[in-house]
This record gives sequence, C-alpha cells and structure tokens, in this order.
Amino acid sequence: MTDYSDLIQPDKGQDARAIHLVDKKSYDGWLKGRSARERAHLAAVGFKPDAFVHAILPGDDPEKWGVVTAVANVDSLSAWCLAKLGQILPDGRYRVEGAQPGKAMFGWMSGQYRFDTYRPKAEARAPRVLLTSDVGAIAAVVAEMRATALVRDMVNTPAADMGPAAIEKEAERIAKAHGAKLTVTKGEALEQGYPMIHAVGRAAAKHHAPRLIEMVWGKDSHPKVALVGKGISFDSGGLDIKPSAGMRLMKKDMGGAAHVLALAELVMAGGLPVRLHCLVAAAENAISADAFRPGDVLRSRLGLTVEIGNTDAEGRLVLGDALAKASEDKPELIVDFATLTGAARVALGPDLPPLFANDDGLAEAMLTGGIERDDPLWRMPLWDAYADLLETDIADLGNAGSSAFAGTITAALFLKRFVGEGIAWAHIDTFAWRPSAKHGRPKGGAALGLRATWAMLQSRYDRRRKSDAS
Ligand code: BES
Ligand code: ZN
Ligand code: ZN
Repeated sequence: MTDYSDLIQPDKGQDARAIHLVDKKSYDGWLKGRSARERAHLAAVGFKPDAFVHAILPGDDPEKWGVVTAVANVDSLSAWCLAKLGQILPDGRYRVEGAQPGKAMFGWMSGQYRFDTYRPKAEARAPRVLLTSDVGAIAAVVAEMRATALVRDMVNTPAADMGPAAIEKEAERIAKAHGAKLTVTKGEALEQGYPMIHAVGRAAAKHHAPRLIEMVWGKDSHPKVALVGKGISFDSGGLDIKPSAGMRLMKKDMGGAAHVLALAELVMAGGLPVRLHCLVAAAENAISADAFRPGDVLRSRLGLTVEIGNTDAEGRLVLGDALAKASEDKPELIVDFATLTGAARVALGPDLPPLFANDDGLAEAMLTGGIERDDPLWRMPLWDAYADLLETDIADLGNAGSSAFAGTITAALFLKRFVGEGIAWAHIDTFAWRPSAKHGRPKGGAALGLRATWAMLQSRYDRRRKSDAS
C-alpha cells in the first residue's frame, strides 16, 4: 500500500494528462475554446456541467486524451471535487489545467485508500498521481491523509486483531517515531487507579486485558493539550448484550482511540508547540462470569460513585476515568473523541458528528476548522437541565439516562462531570464509520472530525500560521 507521498508530486512540467475544471458559469466559454472534434464528442456523450460529472476528452492525438470534470464552483474547490477521478481514472500522471488543485489534493488521495490487510493482491493498483506547483502544501496534505488512513485501518481491522494490546502497539509505534514518552497502566494498578476502565474490561480474555495508554510529548513550557479517546476494541454490550444487528459493527468502538492517536501523530509530526498528553482508554466490553453487572456501583478515579444502569453505556465509564486523569495536569484544553451513542446517529446521521464544548470560542474554532477542511461538525448543547436524567437512588450518578430521550446530550453531561473546573473541553461523538461510499470516502472505517480538530489546533497554536496571518 502507498504511504501517499507518491500521489501528489511537484509540477516540474513533466508529461501529464490534463484535467479541465468547469462549472455552470464557465462551461460555455470553455467549450468555445475546444476543438471541433472535442465539442462533437461532448455533445455526443451528452456532457452537462453538473458537479461530479466528467467526460474523457479525446484530443487530436490518440495518446493525448484528457478529462473534463464539472465542479460546483471553479473558484472554490472542495476537498472532494477530484476524488472520483482519483479513484476511477487509469494509472498515470494528471495536472489540473490552468489552476492549482488546492483542497482537492486531499480527496484525490483519499479516494485511492484501500484496506488491503486481508487481501493485498486483490486490492493492489498503481497510483494516480496529481501534480501541483504549490510544492509547499504537499507535506501537510499528505500528513493529513496518512492520519486519515490510520483511522480507517485501525477501525477496519477486526476486534480479534485490534484489541487493547494491538491499540497499545500502534501507540508505541507512534510514540517511538516522534520521541514521545509512553506509559501503559494495566492489572492491579489499573484496578486501583482507574476502577471504571478496569470494570468495563475485566471480563475480556487475558490477551485483551484493559489498559490506559498514555503518551506525553513536547516541552513542559508549552501550553498543555490533552486528547482522550474511547478505545473499546469490541462492544458486545456486556451483560446487557446487544442484539446481532447492533453488535455487527462494534469492532469500530475503538474509533475514538484511532482518532486521537492519528491527531497525536499530526501534532508531533507537525511540531506543534504544545505539551501533548494523549490518553487512550482501551478495553473490550466482553461477557464472562467476571463481567460488571447492571446495578453494580463503581467508585471512579475522581471519587464519584456510578451506578450501572446499563452495561452497554460503557464508553462514558472508561472516558470518565481518563478525563479525570487528563484534568489532573490542568491542561488548558481537552478534546475527546468517542463512538459514544447510537442516539448521535439518530440525531444527525452518520456524516455529521455532534460537537459539545464548554467554551464558545473553542466550539467556533472547531466548526470553522470543519468548514475549512470539508470535515463538518455540528454543535449540540450541554443542556444542564437534563442532568437530572443521570440521577440514581444509591450513587452520585448513573451511567444510563433514565429516559430514552436526549441520549447524546446525557452522555456528554456524564463526561462533563469528570472534566476539571476551568478547562476548555470539546467532545466529539463520532461514528467513525461510513455505511456507504461517497466520493473519496470508501465504505467502512472513517475519520470524522479529525481534520476539523487539527485545523482548530493549528489555528490556536501554530506560530507560523499566526505570523503568516498578521
Ligand atoms: N458503542 C455504543 C454506541 C454506538 C452504537 C455508536 C451504535 C455507534 C453506533 C455505546 O457503547 C452504546 O452502546 N451506547 C448505548 C447507550 C445506552 C445504553 C444508554 C446506546 O447508544 O444505545
Ligand atoms: Zn455500549
Ligand atoms: Zn461502546
């Protein structure tokens, strides 16, 4: 599989097929400049400048064919406008005629992603290469693509091969590559220090034992940023077992962990001037005689007692302990990613992750980052008046709302109890999955909110960007 660095190359005037971009406004003018042969061809195939429609341009020499594709607006390219071409065109080199591909470089690469772990030969294809004269932009977009591919690969990998130990291995690889310090807490120490992570994961087989994986990187003097990920390697639901249809995709319940590891790699590879603390709560929500039960009361790291209303609401438990630990360092910012609720999908569907934030400036920066990167988020309220839904008879709070309503909000309110006072915090309830393919975005594991968050972190901390802007 490609590492993506070969898919976007500097334009040095080498031979390449032309991709012509048109939109409804520019099409007639563009058509006038084409040869009679090409005009006749486009008329014969019934080409219309509707977004994502394309046609091969025959050219006068049989070897010199090109492509025309319609986009919504030639002056403002989306990340996805060349993605379909990157997927379907024959192998070779391409150049956008008279313009730079800009944001479309991402989609060009993203459409060429393949999950080939289990059938490398069947998935193999030579690269479609896109040229750009904006050579300085290549490294950053390739880094974002690699981060995206890491999320997809980790989520697509079945639970048997992506258990807590495999997640730890991935973290170890990333930590080694960038000189971060890795700490893993397991066994007795986990039971003592992170009782909720331990309780959720203790029913799993030994080789899938639960753990808290932490990575620390960067100078002590830099602003502290924590990233926290839900790493449930498989969510059977526990004793409150999920029905088959609901369990089928639950290998993806470590999607939050995949997002934060990919983000950590972007932060470290990009040399962002922050002190990074990345925490992954990794556990399998399995069933055995030792499983935690409905009605059990857990004493969390923070000291709050939690009565288990439903063992399937396990994500908030492992995150509660991880958020408490992240808060102990008093970072100025915590971002967590979690495949936390089915209710988030009911509310906003699979493409649009709910964003919760206790700070308006932070929320705004995340939403702006999402628009900039074509990686949208939608803000939902931390509606405190629903906090009573988490009250129980015998503990400080329950892990499952007492009503079926507002499930995404009550889950976020549960997390909020574990975030330290005065810390700006954002929570993304990501699906980490794409149920059907869209241009540049294959069915399966998906990075959602990853590049939006990266854009927010860059706008907040990247001095080079700040000095560019001023
Ligand atoms: N991992 C699930 C949430 C989920 C389900 C995400 C489907 C994406 C798709 C989570 O652990 C869970 O099961 N949540 C329950 C909470 C309920 C028991 C309060 C849910 O959403 O039904
Ligand atoms: Zn669950
Ligand atoms: Zn879960």
